[in-house]
Amino acid sequence: MNDSFKLGRDFAMLMDREDELAGYRERFYIPGNDIYMDGNSLGLASRDAEKSLLRVLEEWKTLGIKGWLDAENPWFFIPEDLGAKMAALVGAKSEEVIMTGSTTSNLHSLVSTFYKPWEGRTRIIADELNFPSDIYAIKSQIMNHNLDPEDNLILVKSRDGKYIYEEDIMAAMDESVSIALLPGVLYRSGQLLDMKRLTEYAHSKGIIIGFDCAHSAGSVPHKLHDCDVDFAFWCSYKHLNGGPGSPAFLYLNEKHFDREPGLAGWFGYIKNRQFDLALDFQHSRTAGGWQMGTPCIFSTAALEGALKIFREVGIEAVRKKSLKLTSYVIFLVDNLLSEKPYNYSIGTPREEERRGGHVAVEHKEEAWRICCALKARGIIPDFRPDSVIRIAPVALYNTFTEVWDVIQALKEIIDNREFEAFSKTRDAVS
Ligand SMILES: Cc1ncc(COP(=O)(O)O)c(C=O)c1O
Repeated sequence: MNDSFKLGRDFAMLMDREDELAGYRERFYIPGNDIYMDGNSLGLASRDAEKSLLRVLEEWKTLGIKGWLDAENPWFFIPEDLGAKMAALVGAKSEEVIMTGSTTSNLHSLVSTFYKPWEGRTRIIADELNFPSDIYAIKSQIMNHNLDPEDNLILVKSRDGKYIYEEDIMAAMDESVSIALLPGVLYRSGQLLDMKRLTEYAHSKGIIIGFDCAHSAGSVPHKLHDCDVDFAFWCSYKHLNGGPGSPAFLYLNEKHFDREPGLAGWFGYIKNRQFDLALDFQHSRTAGGWQMGTPCIFSTAALEGALKIFREVGIEAVRKKSLKLTSYVIFLVDNLLSEKPYNYSIGTPREEERRGGHVAVEHKEEAWRICCALKARGIIPDFRPDSVIRIAPVALYNTFTEVWDVIQALKEIIDNREFEAFSKTRDAVS
């Protein structure tokens, strides 16, 4: 038994009273009376995000096109400005991060920058637990070069269906491999990969390494530059609370700034000469050189406010509370829900250094219908097939008491067989 926790709602309330970040919950809109445990899919709206979004709307009304240079945060420079603010959260230099595109489009842009199969190395390493969009994108990159993904995409296998072992990834790294593209945190199990170790090994084999940090950015501090990671990309609508479909980020190690962007566009031009409108492309020697077209200013506007909160709190404090919350989930499942008739289990690494910001609570037979029953009670988790109920207690707006209440609900749903009231057919978005 983890002796830093005790059972009982009183103890959860005590932890809330002692929580130094408790005040930040007030800055967020919590939908209805819900207990929201889904910030790893879509983070919640904050008053700060609302304020910056409304400000930009007002600027459009009052400034029109002049907003590109005269807005309070001039629209033209927002991708660089938010990139620099984001850089602090992932351990990168300001000019190594740019706000641009989507997670998937940034993957395309970066892989097409580094993937030069005609130079000899034709293979790309990913893993079989990776988010499918990444796999679709990598396969299409390989096919664009008239190569067969069957031969040129190495999908590292999971030994247990939950985790990917660093040793197995490293064993696949040989002289046929050009790029290794891996998740920072695995989207289903919440496993955090050892970036430093993987990067060192990849480089010793002459391999470029990149990470999809969609599930770690805003929850786990990274040291992208110090670890010498070549590239990374992530969305801003999950732990970063930028809003539905808000723009993504791209990190490129400064040592690669002289490479030619694989997917060029005019927003990647040397910033102060973009409007020369010259036909020869000369990209900015920063991550900004990897932008393509005009940024979506309304989406970036909400993100500006959302990032302000992170700058106040600091990613280390977020991580500290996040680890305490996820450890508490694990403690409660182990102590209250692991035996018959409940049969829940933990599908997330117990070691803190191997865990991201959510916990996979598994239920072999009824995970989907249990998720439906949770939602009917106003508790919002999400479901990932076949048996994972993802619980993401977010440091900035969730409480320990909410975690306690979720665990009680998981128990009562089995006690009262509440899940039986729901269909086994899944919704389109789960
Ligand atoms: C790990 C991971 N990678 C990639 C994506 C795709 O992101 P997008 O739709 O923003 O391109 C997602 C979406 O949830 C994701 O979780």
